[in-house]
Amino acid sequence: VAADGTRTFRLTAQEGSTQFTPGVDTPTWGFDGDLLGPTLRAARGEKVAVEVRNDLPETTSVHWHGMHLPAAMDGGPHQSVEPGATWRPTWRIDQPAATLWYHPHPHGQTQEHVYRGLAGFFLLDDPAAPDVGLPTEYGVDDVPVVVQDRNVDRDGSLDMSGGELGVLGSLVTTNGVRGAHLPVTTQRVRLRLLNGSTARTYAFGFADDRRFLQVASDGGLLTEPLPTTRVQLSPGERAEVVVTASPGERVRLRSFPPDLGRVVAGFAMGAQDTFDVLELRAAPDLAPSPEVAPTLTTLEPMSAADADVTRTFELEDRSINGRRMDMDRVDVTAELGTTEVWEVRNRNAFPHSLHVHDVQMRVLDIDGEAPPAALAGAKDTVYLAPNRTYRLIMRFEDYADPDTPYMFHCHLLLHEDQGMMGQLVVV
Ligand code: C2O
Ligand code: CU
Ligand code: CU
Repeated sequence: VAADGTRTFRLTAQEGSTQFTPGVDTPTWGFDGDLLGPTLRAARGEKVAVEVRNDLPETTSVHWHGMHLPAAMDGGPHQSVEPGATWRPTWRIDQPAATLWYHPHPHGQTQEHVYRGLAGFFLLDDPAAPDVGLPTEYGVDDVPVVVQDRNVDRDGSLDMSGGELGVLGSLVTTNGVRGAHLPVTTQRVRLRLLNGSTARTYAFGFADDRRFLQVASDGGLLTEPLPTTRVQLSPGERAEVVVTASPGERVRLRSFPPDLGRVVAGFAMGAQDTFDVLELRAAPDLAPSPEVAPTLTTLEPMSAADADVTRTFELEDRSINGRRMDMDRVDVTAELGTTEVWEVRNRNAFPHSLHVHDVQMRVLDIDGEAPPAALAGAKDTVYLAPNRTYRLIMRFEDYADPDTPYMFHCHLLLHEDQGMMGQLVVV
């Protein structure tokens, strides 16, 4: 942190190698290492500056997924970083505490760059927010958990072949390793779950089906803790959960077959899509944890009556409203200070999602019905089940730039790369 209060981070995207299986090297990419990247952390009100250096043999970019910031700092395909170059974005953190992440966003290559291993957490804190009893000791009882799947051939090479959704891999890693475990020393543990996969949706729960609390979604805390046995995340989505452990026990966090909606048979996930992602190993003596408060935060109510503009978006195959991504075309022009409702429909019988840069949205309804509690908080990425219409509401504030677009796209990264993305300008 410099004298003027600016918090500076340095990230270098580089080539490396990882042994997912002992003795077998897989060429991977990472930030400052062989795979994934360091957790960045900043507080609301702080100014951050990042030096992003590209030591890869090809062009990339680094996007701050979930961050509210000027379009020129967003790290989308218009802020590409050439090999050997350094990009220096800077902005002020101005949003609630949340579990965000960063990943490359080069036009047409996002799937590959993320799949090779480029991704990291960006945690935001809010010093002014009340203490609501959530565990806060990083790496001890407040732990980021990124889950990814890949296919690795016998010789160790990454296999990028996939189907309609992209790659559904059989090698599942948690924070970059297979068979991950976490020593637990406190009664309660907060897990910040990130689906860092390019295509697969996970339905996380525990092997013994114990209840836990979901306390946050993409953009920050839910208004109250949600007792549940499952939390489903499509690619790019996050959730924070708090689980209670008993002394000496072992409990496995697992992914169960997700409920993808009315997909055609080939996309249904079955028993073969159940796998363990993290074993919690509780010590014989657990330090006491505070109680999670019954109220976590207040979220400003947003209703369709507040909207200045309503737009419709039809997602089909690799297009949005019949058009594929064009770097030279602006698809949506939104006015600063206005609220918009986006009616978004998945017209396929297979999954899509919608991610919008710069904003945190709220789900108003799904086919006219109120969303489930897990989707009632701040969302930047929303899973779109086949043949359903989602009404999303968002407000464009603080940053206008007629010359630089933000992106909105399907976060199944193959779809994004193949054109299921549009450009949004705030003026
Ligand atoms: Cu996580 Cu436009 O991306
Ligand atoms: Cu994003
Ligand atoms: Cu899609």
